[in-house]
Amino acid sequence: MRDRSMASANQPRLLSDAQGVLDARALPSPEFSALWEAVLVPRELKDRLVSQAILNFTLRGRLDRATVPLHGVILLVGPPGTGKTSLARGLASRTAESVESEQPFRYIEVEPHAMASAALGRSQQAVRQLLGSVIAEQADAGPLIVVLDEVETLAADRMKLSMEANPIDVHRATDAVLAQLDYLAARYPNLLFIATSNFPDAIDEAFLSRADSIEAVPLPDADGCRRILTDTVLALATLYPEVAGILDDPRFEEACLLCQGMDGRRIRKVLVSACTHDKAVAVEPGKLTAGHLLAAVRALGHARERE
Ligand SMILES: Nc1ncnc2c1ncn2[C@@H]1O[C@H](COP(=O)(O)OP(=O)(O)OP(=O)(O)O)[C@@H](O)[C@H]1O
Ligand SMILES: [Mg+2]
Repeated sequence: MRDRSMASANQPRLLSDAQGVLDARALPSPEFSALWEAVLVPRELKDRLVSQAILNFTLRGRLDRATVPLHGVILLVGPPGTGKTSLARGLASRTAESVESEQPFRYIEVEPHAMASAALGRSQQAVRQLLGSVIAEQADAGPLIVVLDEVETLAADRMKLSMEANPIDVHRATDAVLAQLDYLAARYPNLLFIATSNFPDAIDEAFLSRADSIEAVPLPDADGCRRILTDTVLALATLYPEVAGILDDPRFEEACLLCQGMDGRRIRKVLVSACTHDKAVAVEPGKLTAGHLLAAVRALGHARERE
């Protein structure tokens, strides 16, 4: 990491090797915008997320915090594989595209497990260092969006932590996160946290109450399943145009119906596993049929029943 004294007021230090930083980049990011498009959830959910994120930058700094206490935290919760991390990254990029700013937007993604090094007894200091120092310094330089993936590891519910099983350090780390969030919220109106979790019950109540909005990211509904499966077939059709015919086959509809109850990640994998059902298809993927897809969905369904 560069020496602090080398960083001028508007030139935050390089983040590549800062402890606990998984990713740092300028926004908008074409890679992240593509993630936003790839996650197929109800339009209203995406619209609400973008509006909430924009509001953070247009309104938060101008409102009296004592009257309307906005903390600049959006929380996405939902089952594994429903697109939360992709949405968080995509939302960061979409927000930067939508908000006019003299200074460029920057992005930081926190590596949650690096913070939770309770065994080393250092998580509290790590949280202080990351939030209070690294993130504060970046926020000083201009608008900043921070993704806290798997936030339950950072803001573990202190009520549910047994003192014996969990060293006091984990409790203190949660305290440190909350204290730092309050400090950052008050000081930097151009800072937005987007947090994700599979386990909202494991998140500290005090963190939940700081979230300006909590959005549930659901498993895909019938329409969502069809859109995701269609998307994967169309992706293969860019290489093998003949597979687009699968979409007109009644067995494709059946496969879509059977996808219900699966998460988006699993549905995206159906196509790959369909290609492996028949060696001839693995050799020549253009030979993939709706029958292969249906067989793959059935096999995945059976595997799920056994789980
Ligand atoms: N609704 C969806 N539409 C399209 N693709 C989806 C959807 N949900 C998940 N995916 C795909 O599944 C993969 C995993 O998504 P992602 O990692 O964002 O999920 P997650 O909710 O963060 O999972 P986890 O809880 O395990 O961290 C990505 O490739 C994503 O595009
Ligand atoms: Mg995730």
